Amino acid sequence: MNKTIYLKNRPSGTPTLNDFEFKEEHKPSAGDGELLLKTKYISVDPYLRGRMRSGESYIAPFEVNKPLESGIIAEVISSNNSNFKKGDFVNGMLKWKEFQVSDGAGLNKVDPNSAPLSAYLGVLGLTGITAYLGLEKIGKLKEGETLLVSGAAGAVGSIVGQIGKIKGCKVVGIAGTDEKIEMLQNDFGFDNAINYKTTSNMSEAIKKSMS
Ligand SMILES: NC(=O)c1ccc[n+]([C@@H]2O[C@H](COP(=O)([O-])OP(=O)(O)OC[C@H]3O[C@@H](n4cnc5c(N)ncnc54)[C@H](OP(=O)(O)O)[C@@H]3O)[C@@H](O)[C@H]2O)c1
Repeated sequence: MNKTIYLKNRPSGTPTLNDFEFKEEHKPSAGDGELLLKTKYISVDPYLRGRMRSGESYIAPFEVNKPLESGIIAEVISSNNSNFKKGDFVNGMLKWKEFQVSDGAGLNKVDPNSAPLSAYLGVLGLTGITAYLGLEKIGKLKEGETLLVSGAAGAVGSIVGQIGKIKGCKVVGIAGTDEKIEMLQNDFGFDNAINYKTTSNMSEAIKKSMS
């Protein structure tokens, strides 16, 4: 059988289990030019909450009574497509189904020997690209500059700060718990970090930590 997760209702506030439907479907098989994929890892990202709302955004909303979709790492179980072979691993925007068929469009092969497969949904995937392009192409960070990162302990922010350190910058992070502050400094190598929830004068704290 084929486990799938559908959006049942558009959630109001925090999503609950009642907003989703867990279904068992028949396992599909690959037709001409297609491949059968088995899901290994699903990326659950902040932007997915936005896609559960109707209305215009930079990405189409999920449809009610249709499976959810997001970045997924899948294994090729069988292939009738000369670009992919059984045993390959791929990354793509796929449905929240245990098994699904694809014509290969939009799929990128990933190498399980170079990094853990889940890393292709994080630092080697959209999250890493977001951090890298934001910093390099928009922020145009230069060696020796001081970098202030908000949302610093989050998926993107923690990578932004680490790229800043690789580039030889002084890096200061802003986050919301003492545990995150400790992690930023001890695990991610930030030079300073400020807990915005326990700091009364943020302007002063930012000035001091960046000087
Ligand atoms: N992940 C991606 O691949 C990706 C791609 C493109 C764009 N983005 C965008 O980049 C931003 C950061 O994404 P992320 O993946 O790093 O998210 P994340 O891991 O969830 O981190 C976001 C951080 O923002 C802080 N925050 C402040 N106010 C918040 C609130 N009201 N609700 C929830 N968190 C709040 C939280 O840290 P504190 O508790 O420390 O404040 C949280 O850890 C988002 O706007 C996202 O849509 C992400």
